[in-house]
Amino acid sequence: MAKIIDGKTISMEIKEEVKEQMEKLRQEGKKAALAVIQVGADPASSVYVNNKKKVCAYVGIESLAYELPEETTEEELLALIGKLNGMEECNGILVQLPLPGHINEDKVIDAIDPRKDVDGFHTKNVGALCVGQRAFLPCTPAGIIQLLVRSGIEMEGKECVIVGRSNIVGKPMALLMLRENATVTIAHSRTKNLKELCKRADILIVAMGKPKFIGREYVKEGAVVIDVGIHRNENNKLCGDVDFEDVKDLCSAITPVPGGVGPMTIAMLMKNVHEAVSSAATENGR
Ligand code: GUN
Repeated sequence: MAKIIDGKTISMEIKEEVKEQMEKLRQEGKKAALAVIQVGADPASSVYVNNKKKVCAYVGIESLAYELPEETTEEELLALIGKLNGMEECNGILVQLPLPGHINEDKVIDAIDPRKDVDGFHTKNVGALCVGQRAFLPCTPAGIIQLLVRSGIEMEGKECVIVGRSNIVGKPMALLMLRENATVTIAHSRTKNLKELCKRADILIVAMGKPKFIGREYVKEGAVVIDVGIHRNENNKLCGDVDFEDVKDLCSAITPVPGGVGPMTIAMLMKNVHEAVSSAATENGR
């Protein structure tokens, strides 16, 4: 049986670290606030947004909630972002994705001041990450690096295969694994020899969005398997992109769903908000 990489415990460690750092900032007279914007009432988004607000309260970050109706226009959303960009007391801006179809997500993300882009989605932050400059790191991939580091899993020189090429997970994940000196391959829906490719991986990171797709025929013995997927199965139970029961005795370590990658995203978001507050303070000479 593989070692279970416990995202609940590791994310709690990070939240406790941020809580302490926030307390220190408070003693220096500094406060932190994160604007959380949701457009429409997608139930999954509402769950994520509520969790973000709850964890903000836990670590000592104020959340400024903006729940906008589905019919909100792109101009109205851009105007709100413009206002928040100019508000000194707002340190981070998060626009929950996906947005309704009539709003251009790329335009909205790039309207956020990159210094407040705690999701790490702005093209300036993505570009900075790409060329190895300081940037806000996208929360899910950064959380996966923390899971690996804090579980004592070496990345340098390892063969890492990432399944999925989204802007939120796959692409930045590849950049972060490269930064850790892994040898990286990105596979996607058009990849021809997916099984053979995955079977080469020392570290297999799956973010393809297909419930229980990855079974033991995709996994090398002793591999580390990271499952980014989250779905409800036929019995309404949560499951990932990996068939956990099928691969668990083959790999050396694996993240469960739930309780693996999921809790890390919010913990890393809190870390980014702390970073936004402390770097803004430095910039302003405070
Ligand atoms: N939708 C799914 N994941 C994310 C995320 O990490 N940030 C935002 N803003 N929206 C999301």
